Amino acid sequence: MQEPSRRREEVPTVEYQAFGPPAVLQVIPVAVPTPGPHDVVVTVAACSVNRLDTAARAGRQKFLTGRRMPQRTGLDFSGTIVEVGSHVEGLREGQRVWGFLGTQHLGAHGAAAVQITVDAGLVAPAPSGNLTDLAALPLAGLTAGQAFDRLGVGSGSRILITGAAGGVGSVAVQMARARGAVVDTIAAPRYADLLQRQGVASRCDPHAIPWTRMTGQYQAVLDTTGAHLWKLRRCVARTGAMVTISPAGLPMSFLSSIMPGPSVSFVSVRPSRDGLSALADLVETGRLTPIIRARFPLADIASAHAMVEGGHGEGKVIVDVS
Ligand SMILES: NC(=O)c1ccc[n+]([C@@H]2O[C@H](COP(=O)([O-])OP(=O)(O)OC[C@H]3O[C@@H](n4cnc5c(N)ncnc54)[C@H](OP(=O)(O)O)[C@@H]3O)[C@@H](O)[C@H]2O)c1
Repeated sequence: MQEPSRRREEVPTVEYQAFGPPAVLQVIPVAVPTPGPHDVVVTVAACSVNRLDTAARAGRQKFLTGRRMPQRTGLDFSGTIVEVGSHVEGLREGQRVWGFLGTQHLGAHGAAAVQITVDAGLVAPAPSGNLTDLAALPLAGLTAGQAFDRLGVGSGSRILITGAAGGVGSVAVQMARARGAVVDTIAAPRYADLLQRQGVASRCDPHAIPWTRMTGQYQAVLDTTGAHLWKLRRCVARTGAMVTISPAGLPMSFLSSIMPGPSVSFVSVRPSRDGLSALADLVETGRLTPIIRARFPLADIASAHAMVEGGHGEGKVIVDVS
């Protein structure tokens, strides 16, 4: 005989009924989906706001989100498992976890909710530390890690990172240092203290970049801004490579594949449980710390989106759900 289905509670969840400005975001009660055999239910401590979230909400990612409403927001999160599907191994109720939902179901799923049901393969044990702040790391850290794997960043490499104080940049700098790389950066003067604390070798002002002196100097270039892409490519050594994560770099990554000279690839972040575990190890060993620009409560997620859309500042914007 089939067991009666367990009644799911409704929990505050962020949705929008139409694409538009941050004000379209609404917190409404929604039933948490029953976990399938490979899912876990997580009580969310926090999620971060990424540029992809704001672009999706504004209707600039319809090829990924489709047009069906309502849509949800929030790609990476930290929290605690409250229920485990029957086929899930290696995760248990009460465990602190973090995760990245991936972009495949952008708009259909969202981490900006008090509780979410998520495929256990997208979740990994979180390291120790403030669980809310840890939500700053999954998407940014996976992006930087996958970019560095593509670039082959290792001990002694000299790498140039642009937008080095931003959400991805501030994590990338720490991860490059953890790999033993020498890190030069392009970032505004107001970020000098942060970057010095993170152990960068040098910082140059985006308005006074010594391009001639930098020509051919770098084994690896990681661009997070989409600015000066062709000049940045000239900074790459003959045996080196460049990665951009900015959508503005997509045409160049295609063109560079048919041109002589250093390769430029566009890296699009993918979920990775191994990648999350590697990030956790960096946090546990004190080599990676979340840099938080601002925190907003779930009820004020519209302000968090507005700040990210403003596009300036250091570190990540967090939505504190707890
Ligand atoms: N491909 C992927 O998988 C992937 C993953 C994550 C993010 N992204 C994309 O990567 C980009 C960066 O994301 P993010 O989360 O790091 O954004 P963010 O938190 O807004 O940071 C951007 C940083 O870049 C700096 N900046 C902007 N223009 C600059 C320039 N010309 N020279 C030097 N610094 C400059 C900003 O500094 P100021 O404060 O001085 O303006 C800011 O610190 C976005 O376009 C995002 O969509 C892609």
